[in-house]
Amino acid sequence: PDQEEALKARIKQRLAAENAVIVAHYYTSPAIQALAEETGGCVSDSLEMARFGHDHPARTLVVAGVKFMGETAKILTPDKRVLMPTLEATCSLDLGCPADEFAAFCDAHPDRTVVVYANTSAAVKARADWVVTSSIALDVAEHLAARGEKIIWAPDKHLGDYVRRETGADILMWDGACIVHEEFKARGIADLKQVYPDAAVLVHPESPAPVLELADRVGSTTQIIRAAQEMDNERFIVATDQGIFYKLQQQAPDKEFLIAPTAGKGATCRSCANCPWMAMNELEALAGVFDRDDNEVFVDAALGERAMVPLRRMLDFAA
Ligand code: 13P
Ligand code: SF4
Repeated sequence: PDQEEALKARIKQRLAAENAVIVAHYYTSPAIQALAEETGGCVSDSLEMARFGHDHPARTLVVAGVKFMGETAKILTPDKRVLMPTLEATCSLDLGCPADEFAAFCDAHPDRTVVVYANTSAAVKARADWVVTSSIALDVAEHLAARGEKIIWAPDKHLGDYVRRETGADILMWDGACIVHEEFKARGIADLKQVYPDAAVLVHPESPAPVLELADRVGSTTQIIRAAQEMDNERFIVATDQGIFYKLQQQAPDKEFLIAPTAGKGATCRSCANCPWMAMNELEALAGVFDRDDNEVFVDAALGERAMVPLRRMLDFAA
């Protein structure tokens, strides 16, 4: 604990000296979320992280999350310095959608509007008409479907399937998935519901269809937290990364939260509801964030200008 306090004090001092602010995701560790809150930064979902970084006057953004979040911040505010505890924190959705293959896919279907999830590289965003996060995915798909537009959806097939079922949009799907949410098992959740029949099930839409079918509410991380506050249930089964429990407990302290079962602790579980890349955001790495030369986010200027168009469209649509 003493060491943790010393690290936190050092980070606070450097943030102030460097005119910097922390932009953290709900999946980072409780220590990092608490520090972001204490120092006037933000803890939020992907959409609000993008908006906060864009609107905040700080000269430097310290993005505690994964690489696409740092890139999004840099694209939206190219004049700011964007640092991350480590640039190695990536995402299986980003990794599963290489820009050259994706461009060829889009070129083969020129009649379709290209919608990509925020969890993609700057180069993939630069090829898109729209960027969405899970909090506005349904609304954007509805908007496009109402205009009769056919869609390419990438990279998350589970989110895309969910959007297709809910909106009836004509979607051609890329084959990608989140290794964390893909592990949740409908069978395990149904078993847990037998033990706690009063528990409501809250599910992130990156989860597979059988898990979504069991949900009382489906939504982004922010929407899951809101649902836990609004619903009358005293107990919840939560199918998303365990990092969210910090905020759930803070916002609904009288309620009980149970993690949805994954494949178990055996060899088949790669993530166990704990994103390995989000977990790279350690306090030690944050403490050294201003002193290294290998953790600043750069995005090619021309690429960034192209990627900014669908990103701004997303922010304007969500406004
Ligand atoms: P949201 O916070 O936008 O729901 O995204 C979840 C996620 O997987 C980010 O990596
Ligand atoms: Fe990517 Fe899933 Fe990790 Fe989010 S939780 S960063 S979608 S791998």
